[in-house]
Amino acid sequence: MKLDKTTETLLIFLTAFVVLFTALFVNKVCADNNVSSEYTIDLSLTGAKLSDGVYATVSRSGEGNTKNRYYAQYDFVVKNNEKKGISNWKATIDVPKDTEISNHWGVETHIDGDKLIFTPEFYNLSFTNDNDLEFGVVLNTRDSFFPEKITLRGYRTGNAGNVFTRIIYVGFVIWAALFMGFFVSKFNLKNYREKQKNDVRIILQSMNTFISFIDAKDPYTRGHSRRVAMYAAEIAKRMRLSEDEVQNIYYAGLLHDAGKISVPDAVLNKPGKLSDEERKQIQDHTVAGGKMLKQMTSLRGIREIALYHHERYDGTGYPEGLAGENIPLYARIVGVADAYDAMSSNRVYRRHLNKDEIIEEIQQGSGTQFDPNIVPYMVDMINDGYVNVVKMETAENDSGSNNIHLTEDDIPGVYMGF
Ligand SMILES: [Fe+2]
Repeated sequence: MKLDKTTETLLIFLTAFVVLFTALFVNKVCADNNVSSEYTIDLSLTGAKLSDGVYATVSRSGEGNTKNRYYAQYDFVVKNNEKKGISNWKATIDVPKDTEISNHWGVETHIDGDKLIFTPEFYNLSFTNDNDLEFGVVLNTRDSFFPEKITLRGYRTGNAGNVFTRIIYVGFVIWAALFMGFFVSKFNLKNYREKQKNDVRIILQSMNTFISFIDAKDPYTRGHSRRVAMYAAEIAKRMRLSEDEVQNIYYAGLLHDAGKISVPDAVLNKPGKLSDEERKQIQDHTVAGGKMLKQMTSLRGIREIALYHHERYDGTGYPEGLAGENIPLYARIVGVADAYDAMSSNRVYRRHLNKDEIIEEIQQGSGTQFDPNIVPYMVDMINDGYVNVVKMETAENDSGSNNIHLTEDDIPGVYMGF
């Protein structure tokens, strides 16, 4: 599935909406269960409803007079029949200004101005459902009075309002945001990979076309470019080069002999001994390839491989006689892969060598023709049969008249695993 810009924008808005909606929902749930709720009741009645499920009564007993002061005992009962408890509660009653407390029980009591304030002994004590909250006080006042109003202020403590539930909700918000983020990035990544895969196809198809020109000129080396590319990429992979480098080496391997286009067919396919001039013409395919691929700067190493894949480690190769690590690494790798394929293929002037002969040749060339650090990887690939797998795969495609045979699956370990 490919996301266009509009769908991507819609998804981002949807994500923002989900996060916002969830945040509002969480806020509402927490608010419903934790907001400070104030219940006021007219206690001129014997008992009355404070709120749904919360009821209060007050009764006066033991009243009398002493020293021109009036005293009375007030007994309060508050009943909570709600499913949710009430915590951090505080009850307040308006009393005359000169009121003094003679006695109290059930809860802490103190006077603040003209307010008689009741609080639980432990402030956080929850006043749960089906509990009777009983407390009382003996007040000493100048005149007789009866509490007219009680104000109970507290916090509802429902299941959804505790810390654990809040964590769950916050976790859900984070999860929703991450999920939507993952969803968007997954499809973006897929989109990106589709594009990348398509780019690779375009590159490969272009190269296929070009290689078919080379193969048409030199049918004896049909499939050579592809095999060299696969050997070289496998060496690079075993040398633990990065995926990008493995892929570059593969592409560069495909085009390493591009310069053969400029060599006359008669020279390229001559079965007999070559004259010095003819040998020079063949060797010039390196310089010609380097010139042709000079423009292809987006694929790193391609020009260098075409130009330097016939250099030798001891400096006796061509075209420039570079030695050792002055020869670019990619060219040294392709040089070994190229030599292996030449030895293991039939040519107009000889049959291929067998496995032991090839290993011997390659090992003899270690440090003279080949980079001694690369030779062991090539020898391992011969011994563990990797080269035979490549030969079988390429033979199948090369036998047909259709020469368009490269696919992205040929690139070892590069991007195409999805
Ligand atoms: Fe070559």
